[in-house]
Amino acid sequence: MGDKKEVVKKVKALVKDYFDSYEDDDKDIKVPLMSRLYNEEEVAEVVDTLLTPERLTINASGDLKIEAFENLWADLIGTRHGVMTNSGSSANLVAFHILSNPTIKNRLKPGDEVIVPALNWITSVTPLYALGLKPVFIDVGKDFCLDVSQLKKALSSKTRAIMAVHLLGFPIDMDNLMNFAKENNLFVVEDACEAHGAEWNGKKVGSYGDLGTFSFYLSHHISTIEGGMVMTNNDEYGDLARIIRSQGIMRNVKNQEYKNKIQNKYPQIDSRFLYANTGFNFRPNEMEGAIGVVQFRRFKNYLQKRIDLANYYLKEFISFSDFIEPPLIRKNTQCAWFGYPIMVKNNSPFTAKSLINFLESNNIETRPIMSGDFTQHPVNDIFDHRIIGDLKTTKNINSNGFFIGIHAGITNEQREYVVSKFEEFLLQFKK
Ligand SMILES: Cc1ncc(COP(=O)(O)O)c(C=O)c1O
Repeated sequence: MGDKKEVVKKVKALVKDYFDSYEDDDKDIKVPLMSRLYNEEEVAEVVDTLLTPERLTINASGDLKIEAFENLWADLIGTRHGVMTNSGSSANLVAFHILSNPTIKNRLKPGDEVIVPALNWITSVTPLYALGLKPVFIDVGKDFCLDVSQLKKALSSKTRAIMAVHLLGFPIDMDNLMNFAKENNLFVVEDACEAHGAEWNGKKVGSYGDLGTFSFYLSHHISTIEGGMVMTNNDEYGDLARIIRSQGIMRNVKNQEYKNKIQNKYPQIDSRFLYANTGFNFRPNEMEGAIGVVQFRRFKNYLQKRIDLANYYLKEFISFSDFIEPPLIRKNTQCAWFGYPIMVKNNSPFTAKSLINFLESNNIETRPIMSGDFTQHPVNDIFDHRIIGDLKTTKNINSNGFFIGIHAGITNEQREYVVSKFEEFLLQFKK
């Protein structure tokens, strides 16, 4: 029988050599939207997990790395529960299944309205469509996030919840949003999938609402390759998340009293396969949990690198402010900088498209600001929704905005290259 530790050690050393000696044959500078932010430590953890076949999924017993990661992340965000899923999209779907579940008080029902920003990510909205809820799209502010001052205009007798998307890592004004929700008896789900570590007024986003969600997809602040998490301070919602994520079974439920009560009521059914509620298979696997634990150790450093890079661009881009609008950063906030947004001013002598083409031709990767104006996407021709007002800022961002990469993999050489290419492009328009 081989020695597991020895195998893992050897693999780790080999992979380290591989990564250390890896060289891109193409010597041109490239500035990608994301890059590899894991090394031999994550690979070693995955190998260690695969060499432990009795502990590969959330269904196994013993000390699960998935649970270790859930606890670390929940402690950081400041919630009682973190329930890992296989993606951020699944986390959003679980969140709205919880709020629509017949077991909860005052639950959401088909036809109820949920206020959501028109600038979003599609899976902030699709859970609503899936459950027969009606999105009510409102405009965003210059910080790319739902404009809290628009909430009142969206309110109707059917309004039951707000889907607060902290887009690009910018934190929404959660004090005013939560006050509004309280006054109007609305549920709040925070989609913090792009906002790892973002803070409003000293408190982390994802911890304000009834539920919060995160994504750990490759391009995010830390990544488990694919992965997500549902956050909540509500014990009942936490256990419902565990049940819904795992096909309706009760295996991972924390409330032992509740578990016993149901199991005792149905002694004729094998408790391992006792279906307590609705469910899906949104389970993460242990390899993702193991990667999460290693990535967690890097989180503070990775976030700080994004913040430092943003500060560098904010400073350097001041000289471009005739043409490019600096991002709006509100007082008492910490932005988590999912990307660095570029907004070409309306009166500029060039279009955003021409700048994008120039950057792309110089190997600086760009992308639209998430969905752009989501109301324009064909999916909305199929499902019922409402739109509030003219969505002026969303439309402006859709036409004139894009973002460039801002992650821990970007070097000083790359960031200087980015600034030099902006200078080169903009110089032709300087009077
Ligand atoms: C705001 C937002 N919500 C939800 C998601 C979905 O996350 P995932 O890609 O892990 O499904 C994303 C993905 O990037 C996102 O940006």
